[in-house]
Amino acid sequence: MKNDIKQILLTKEVIEKRVQEIGQEIDQYYQNREIIIITLLDGAIVFTADLIRNLAIPLRLDCLRVSSYGNSTDPETAPRILSSLKSDVRDKHVLLVDDILDTGNTLQSVFNEVTSKQPASVRSCVFLDKPERRQNGFKADWSGFSIPDEFVVGYGLDYAGRYRQLPYVGTLKPSVYS
Ligand code: PRP
Repeated sequence: MKNDIKQILLTKEVIEKRVQEIGQEIDQYYQNREIIIITLLDGAIVFTADLIRNLAIPLRLDCLRVSSYGNSTDPETAPRILSSLKSDVRDKHVLLVDDILDTGNTLQSVFNEVTSKQPASVRSCVFLDKPERRQNGFKADWSGFSIPDEFVVGYGLDYAGRYRQLPYVGTLKPSVYS
């Protein structure tokens, strides 16, 4: 698996430090108010697991399964919300957490869906942001790293379901795609 990596863009140490910083910023923003974190499966589970261990505010966790990419590196279809929330988010502060903000279509769909349930607030936090790729005006309230439009794997991000467990973020050798 390591042999498939062309270049490491974000090391484990750099990621750890940034996740700690984001945790502090989120703690400061919410000022001990309870939040519901909605994490978007599957990619965000690694980031979410680290992020929540860097948060001191009270929180509860919920997950949504959203699918858009399948095994392709390009969007194939509009995002589909495939599961429902277990929490009642009405009058609650909701924080959406995802691994990557790309076209913005996934988070925009989830934002609209959650907002329709009348929460007190909806904010978003992404591990990676590819601003060049945006197809709408969606902006995350917290973002770990802005990266160029290059396909990356690791720290939750996959190629055809693989490489999610890598503790760093890197690019794949062209031979992997062929
Ligand atoms: C990826 C990623 C985001 C979404 C971002 O999900 O996890 O949810 O794409 O893309 P967008 O901004 O263009 O909508 P994917 O469908 O690959 O599923 P996964 O989380 O299971 O990897």
